[in-house]
Amino acid sequence: MKKEAPKSITKAGFKRALRIFEYVKPYKAKFTLGLVFLLLSSVTFMTFPGLIGRLVGGDEVSDSPIDRFFNLENIDQVALLLIGAFSLQALFSFMRIYLFADVTERAIASIRKDTYRHLVRLPMTFFSSHRVGELNSRISNDISQLQDTFMTTLAEMVRQTITIVFGISLLFFYSVELTLVMLISLPVMMLAAFFFGKFIRKLSKKTQDELADSQVIVDETLQGIQSVKSYTNEPFETARYNVVAENVRKVAMLGAKWRGAFASFIILGLFGAIVLVIWYGVRLKNSGEIGMDVLMSFILYSVFVGGSIGGVADIFGKVQKAIGSTENLFDLLEEPLEEAIEERHGSGSRSGKFSFSQVAFSYPSRPDKPVLRDVSFQVNQGEKVAIVGASGAGKSTIASLLLRFYSIDQGEIQIDGMPINDLSINETRSMMALVPQEILLFGGTIFENIQYGKPGATRVEVEAAALKANAMEFIRGFPEGFETKVGERGIQLSGGQRQRVAIARAILKDPKVLILDEATSSLDAENERHVQDALEILMKGRTSLIIAHRLSTIRSADKIVVLEHGIVRESGTHDELLKIENGVYKNLHNLQDAS
Ligand SMILES: Nc1ncnc2c1ncn2[C@@H]1O[C@H](COP(=O)(O)OP(=O)(O)O)[C@@H](O)[C@H]1O
Ligand SMILES: [Mg+2]
Repeated sequence: MKKEAPKSITKAGFKRALRIFEYVKPYKAKFTLGLVFLLLSSVTFMTFPGLIGRLVGGDEVSDSPIDRFFNLENIDQVALLLIGAFSLQALFSFMRIYLFADVTERAIASIRKDTYRHLVRLPMTFFSSHRVGELNSRISNDISQLQDTFMTTLAEMVRQTITIVFGISLLFFYSVELTLVMLISLPVMMLAAFFFGKFIRKLSKKTQDELADSQVIVDETLQGIQSVKSYTNEPFETARYNVVAENVRKVAMLGAKWRGAFASFIILGLFGAIVLVIWYGVRLKNSGEIGMDVLMSFILYSVFVGGSIGGVADIFGKVQKAIGSTENLFDLLEEPLEEAIEERHGSGSRSGKFSFSQVAFSYPSRPDKPVLRDVSFQVNQGEKVAIVGASGAGKSTIASLLLRFYSIDQGEIQIDGMPINDLSINETRSMMALVPQEILLFGGTIFENIQYGKPGATRVEVEAAALKANAMEFIRGFPEGFETKVGERGIQLSGGQRQRVAIARAILKDPKVLILDEATSSLDAENERHVQDALEILMKGRTSLIIAHRLSTIRSADKIVVLEHGIVRESGTHDELLKIENGVYKNLHNLQDAS
C-alpha cells in the first residue's frame, strides 16, 4: 500500500489481476450474454457507414458492396434498413449496458464487502504502520477504478478491436488503392500514440499519489479539528495543505500539457489522414473509378477506424491502471489476518486469573526501542491490581498485550495457567473489557452504544447496565432518553458521560477481566466521583487491572505494581510500598500529596 512506481504490465501481474474475474464468475451467464450484446452492437455499428454512404449515393444504380448483401432498389429501402439497424443498435446497447452494470455492481459489492471484512480483521500491527487516510483513499480509489474498468473500459476495448479489424477489412473491400493510401498515415500515429500515452500515464499516476497525500492531510486535520483550533494552528494547517494542493496542481498541469500535446498530435494526424483520403478519393471518383456512395462510406469507415486507433493508447492506460488497482487490492487482501475471528465466545468456564513473567516487548514499528524490558506480576481471580508509573512507562502497552493486540518478544503471559497463545484470540478478548481514557462513541443512539458490549441484549439488560453505571440520571435528562443520537452527528456527551456509557457497555459484557486504562484521569472531581462509584460496582468480585496515574484511586488495590521504563521496580500493597525507604512509589506518593 506504499507509494509505488507505475507498474508496467508484467505477465505475473497480469495473471494476478485476472483473478479479479473470480468475482465475476458467479454471474458468468449474465456476463457472457452482455458480451454477446456488446459484440452484436459493435457489429451493427459497423453497418452505418456502408448504409449512410449508400443513402447519400442516391437512386442511381450503384456499385456499393452493400448491394451484394441486400437487394436494394431505392433510397426508401436504404433509409428503412438504416432505421432498422439503428433500432437494433439501440436495443443491443441498452441490454449491454444494463447487463454489464448488473454484473459489475454485484462484483464490486462483493469486492467491497471482502475488502472491508478483511481490513477489520487485520492485526493492530497493520494499523499502526498504515495511515488511515491513505487506506481510505486507496480503497475507494482502487475500487472505483475497477468499477470503471468493468463498466466501460472492457466494452470500449471490444468495440475498438472490432472497429479496427472489421473497419480495415471493409475498407479493403471498398477500395484497395484508397485503403493503402490511408494506412500510410496510420502506423506513424500509432507509434507516436504509444510513446506519448506511456509518458502521460506516468504523470497521471503521480497526480493520483499527490492527491492521496492531500487527502491524508484533510483527514488528519478534520479528525483533530479541536486541537487545530485550540492551538490556532489554522494558518499552519492551511499552509501545509496549500503546499500539497500546489503539488497536485503542478503535477496535474504537467500532465495536462502533455495530454494537450497528445490530443493536438492525434487531431493533426487524424485530420491529415482524412484530408489525404478525401483528396485521393475525389480524384478516384472524378476519374470514374468509384461512385459517390463508395467514397462517402469509405470516408466514414476511415473516421471510425482512425478514431479507434487513436483511442488504443487510452484504453491501454486504463487497463494498466486497473491492473495497478487490482494489485493494490490483492496486496491488502493478502495481508495475513490476525487469526480466525468468527463467532463470539462466551467466557463461562474461565476464572480470569493471569500473569506476566519476564515479558519483554517492543513495537513492531520501532523494534530498536524496548518498551517493556522485564515485567512480571500475577493477578489472582477476583483481585484488583493496579499499575502505576510515569507516562510512557509502558502501562497501556501491558493492557494491549493482555488483549493480544501484539505478540510479545520474550517471556510469557498466562491466562488461567495457560500460555496466552494456547487460547484463541477470540476467547481471550471475550473474557475482557477495556475502559480506556478516551472513549469513542459510535454514531448511533445511546442505547446502541451500550448494547455494543453485548449485541442482541434486551432493553431491560441495557437499562440495568446503565443504572449500575450511574448513567441513568443523565440519560433520562435528555428528551429522547436512550434514543438520543450521539457521535459525530449527534449530541456531544461530556467526558464523564461518555465514560459512564463505556462502563455500562462493559457491565453488559460482564467480562472476567476488567482493564481500566486511566479511566478517570481526564475527569473533574465531580464526574470522577460518579464514575468511580460506577467502577467500584463494576469491579466487585471481578479480576481487575487498574492503570492509574493518580494514586488516590488505587489505594485499596490488592496489589500495586510500580513500572518504570518498562521494568517492574516495586510491587505490594499501598502500605507495604510506603514502607520502602526512598521507594519510587513513596516518592510519587509524597509528590502527589503535596500538590
Ligand atoms: N503503537 C505504538 N507504536 C510504537 N510505539 C509505541 C506505540 N504505543 C506506544 N508506544 C511507545 O511505547 C512507550 C510506552 O507507551 P505506553 O504503554 O502507552 O505508556 P503509558 O501508558 O505508560 O503512558 C512509549 O514510549 C510510546 O512512545
Ligand atoms: Mg497509557
